[in-house]
Amino acid sequence: MIKADQTTERLTGFAGVPAASALLRAGELVAFPTETVYGLGADATNPDAVVKVYDAKGRPRFNPLIVHLSSVDAALEIAAFPEWALQLAVAFWPGALTLVVPSRGILPEIVSAGRPSLALRVPSHPLALALLRASERPLAAPSANPSGRVSPTTACHVLDGLDGRIAAVLDGGPTEVGIESTIVGGEVPTLLRPGGIAVSEIEKVMGASLARSGLITKTVPSAPGQLASHYAPRVEVRLNAEEARGNEILLGFGDIAGDRTLSATGDLREAATHLFAALRELDTLGRPIAVAPIPETGLGLAINDRLTRAAAPR
Ligand code: TXA
Ligand code: MG
Repeated sequence: MIKADQTTERLTGFAGVPAASALLRAGELVAFPTETVYGLGADATNPDAVVKVYDAKGRPRFNPLIVHLSSVDAALEIAAFPEWALQLAVAFWPGALTLVVPSRGILPEIVSAGRPSLALRVPSHPLALALLRASERPLAAPSANPSGRVSPTTACHVLDGLDGRIAAVLDGGPTEVGIESTIVGGEVPTLLRPGGIAVSEIEKVMGASLARSGLITKTVPSAPGQLASHYAPRVEVRLNAEEARGNEILLGFGDIAGDRTLSATGDLREAATHLFAALRELDTLGRPIAVAPIPETGLGLAINDRLTRAAAPR
């Protein structure tokens, strides 16, 4: 059982940054907005602070954390970038791309769950960057939700799952991208998780295709967030539905209008932005959810990945 025994402070906007960074420097947990989803931040140089992240989320200790940095230079200090990774960092940072690269062994092992690699990202959200700069250290930050549940895209979502388990949440309003970052890593550049930056954009910059690791992997997958059942609402989810059956509530897309619709115009970017909030909202109704088909192109890859895992048996 995870204890909820502290008062979680609500901080807002740039005015909240000094207090948020002071808490982080003191080894406390602070959730903060990024352009993708809210992250649960801890000082990545402080192993006692990082342990608290696993505990607050109920996250298995084998599942490593993403480290957030304020610049490419700060990332180069803690990891050795192969040429392909440097090329992608320069092209996409700050932004919704996470790179898994060999660690220089400077950060405590618990950050990467004992792995020799680190997952790194420079976020583009102005509040995240302000917090990183004020804290003057890398911040380990997985999505700010209890393990296995839907990622938060508002401060309110964060509190739904973690109120009383973290020192503070920094409210920056709803996040823009709405789904987590794309993760690329490996000896040859490999897609470990589809996300906020389309694979086609990455391949355009590389001038080559990304290798794919199977999207759904075993007990200790290469990106353990790829466990089959993840992002799980409490109710059942049925995909590729043309219409609602029985008691189902329909999540629409494009021509298929639902009780709630991800994007009436069939815009995948808009659909990604609204996906997690829609799943949370429909989950509260206690009826099974049917989801209209989403095309497997651009951000549709990431949306279908999250939906498939929301629908996986558990
Ligand atoms: O957009 C995002 O990526 C958000 C925001 C907060 O930055 N973060 C996020 O973190 O989604 P999380 O912990 O929910 O997902 C991180 C994924 C996990 O699947 C984890 O297993 C994988 O990254 N990961 C972390 N370090 C890794 C490593 N060294 N090697 C392979 N996978 C790693
Ligand atoms: Mg997560």
